Amino acid sequence: MTELTDSTGPANPADPVAFPQDRSCPYHPPTGYEPLRDGRSLSRVTLFDGREVWAVTAHATARALLADPRLSSDRRRPGFPIPAERFAGVRDRRVALLGVDDPEHQRQRRMMIPSFTVRRATELRPWIQRTVDGLLDAMIAQGPPADLVSAFALPVPSMVICGLLGVPYRDHEFFEEQSRRLLRGPRAADSVQARARLEEYLGGLIDAKAKQAEAGDGVLDDLVHHRLRDGTVDRAELVALALILLVAGHETTANMISLGTFTLLRHPDRLAELRADPALLPAAVEELMRMLSIAEGLARVALEDIEIAGTTIRAGEGVLFSTSVINRDPVLYDDPDTLDFHRPTRHHVAFGFGIHQCLGQNLARAELEIALGGLLARLPGLRLAVPAEEVPFKRGDTIQGMLELPVTW
Ligand code: HEM
Repeated sequence: MTELTDSTGPANPADPVAFPQDRSCPYHPPTGYEPLRDGRSLSRVTLFDGREVWAVTAHATARALLADPRLSSDRRRPGFPIPAERFAGVRDRRVALLGVDDPEHQRQRRMMIPSFTVRRATELRPWIQRTVDGLLDAMIAQGPPADLVSAFALPVPSMVICGLLGVPYRDHEFFEEQSRRLLRGPRAADSVQARARLEEYLGGLIDAKAKQAEAGDGVLDDLVHHRLRDGTVDRAELVALALILLVAGHETTANMISLGTFTLLRHPDRLAELRADPALLPAAVEELMRMLSIAEGLARVALEDIEIAGTTIRAGEGVLFSTSVINRDPVLYDDPDTLDFHRPTRHHVAFGFGIHQCLGQNLARAELEIALGGLLARLPGLRLAVPAEEVPFKRGDTIQGMLELPVTW
């Protein structure tokens, strides 16, 4: 596909590159990150406000640092790297799980783990399959063309996370829009307001659940009727937990379904291979996770000086993990820019690594396998309805994905 040339490389190759940058092609790292792919483990990069922080780009260094308790995820600490201006306004808010360090993190994570095990995801598969089948039935009944984002990629994870948490899906337009504004702004005030609206909505939902005599079967119902009542969590913490689960639970997977489908349509040989042998689906999902690395720029701040890879990260310095570059480290992956369903991919960091490694990864894998598998099986003639260069994808975003995906079949 046409590579646009809007990425910013440094005037002098030794100068820090700007971070984050927009992708030119939605399934490749920004061309402006080429200087970060020169074999170094860490590089200095410049944020939107001119501040310099570290970008980690080598796989072994990334895994060591993501597992290092001397790096903090607490967004309220001075020096924590903010990737875009719009996030500056929400940095003093409480971010559950993702924004807390141990031991608080461990306490929250332990509460949530039983709902997100491999076993739980396996139990949910028949229900996810029914959800996917229902959406495909509706799309097929409506007839081509369709926008795959609004007709399929967004509703699948949105319905699944609603059912799992006990959030009414009838409110999806509200929370999808607020999540979008929380993550994408465009202004800092939009993010702040969207967050406040989501907190108010989820607080109301939690209060309503607390008044019910019998607990419903959602994760939030369980937390309200057991953990809130026995004082293990307070209302504010529960709202913060509900918010991260709801937002992380639908935005990311929706983008993987849309961008994953686009990528397959742009690689017809791989698509044909997958159609011929659906048993390749789990490997294909893993390889798409590696190649697309949709959650880019995981952020931390150093609590102490850290010596690593011949460099010293000083206490108080910001550290960003460029997952798209790390997941193409040639030390680990041969021919890393190629989509290959037969390579060992398990060690990618597209779900992160260490204590914050994605809580929803088992659920996400199940959703992706069932959604992509359903699309391939039910729509054998699936193709883009417009030239690939005209398909709009996300720019200026922390999560990569398609804005729309016009398809026909
Ligand atoms: C394909 C889809 C997904 C991708 C690419 C993804 C990616 C990630 C990444 C990279 C992290 C680590 C962030 C860091 O270390 O700073 C993370 C954490 C997290 N993810 Fe996901 N995620 C996905 C789906 C989901 C789903 C479906 C849920 C549903 C509940 C979820 C919930 C979370 C939570 C709660 C955390 C924070 C975990 C913690 O701090 O202990 N994610 N995710």
